[in-house]
Amino acid sequence: MRHIGTKNIETERLLLRRLTCDDALMAYKNWCSSDNVSKYVMWKKHNNVETTKKLFESWEKEYEDLTTYRWIVEIKKTKELIGTIDVASKKFLPYGTCEIGYCYGEKYWGNGYATEALKGVIKYLFEQCDADVIFAEHLSDNKASGRVMLKSGMTYEGVLKSRIEDSLGKRNDIVSYSITKDEYNIKAGEL
Ligand SMILES: CC(C)(COP(=O)(O)OP(=O)(O)OC[C@H]1O[C@@H](n2cnc3c(N)ncnc32)[C@H](O)[C@@H]1OP(=O)(O)O)[C@@H](O)C(=O)NCCC(=O)NCCS
Repeated sequence: MRHIGTKNIETERLLLRRLTCDDALMAYKNWCSSDNVSKYVMWKKHNNVETTKKLFESWEKEYEDLTTYRWIVEIKKTKELIGTIDVASKKFLPYGTCEIGYCYGEKYWGNGYATEALKGVIKYLFEQCDADVIFAEHLSDNKASGRVMLKSGMTYEGVLKSRIEDSLGKRNDIVSYSITKDEYNIKAGEL
């Protein structure tokens, strides 16, 4: 993989860019403080904006490391910040393998934004960074996230049984989807 870090990605309706501390307040309001957003992710909702600020401060510093891929997602037309998408773990990067994570504010769901952003990130990681495989996982109850992965060109890989609990303590399977470089090269025109 060729590591170039987090650079801007533009899609039809969205700008994916580096986040800054100045984004914290809108992020807190739009998704970081929401029970519904944090239900199926591995972080707890933020109880105050200071938590978001501290997190964004540490994330801003991380950009110095060019193996950091984390974007805040902005609607170009309105400049609203709607969520984040990132390479969620660096564990597999030495093998050219990228694990993607994302979350979006509730009021923006159902507009195809998550799919549009994921497609943009997949294109970036294959075409600019020469990644070999991109994968993403969701809790089995989080069907919408599985749809986003499928619509972005990933295919279903399998299930890890009862592997994890959601934020309410309910056990869930983990469902995995991926796309390889070869698959991307075949599909790229259609995505
Ligand atoms: C999951 C999430 C990313 C989806 O974002 P989004 O912007 O609404 O996604 P899109 O609009 O691109 O696509 C959503 C798809 O899921 C479908 N969907 C929504 N709710 C669904 C449900 N309960 N069951 C099945 N499909 C569902 C939508 O109909 C749409 O598919 P379609 O275009 O075929 O109709 C968003 O809800 C979110 O951020 N949730 C909280 C954080 C999270 O779960 N992150 C992912 C962790 S793996």
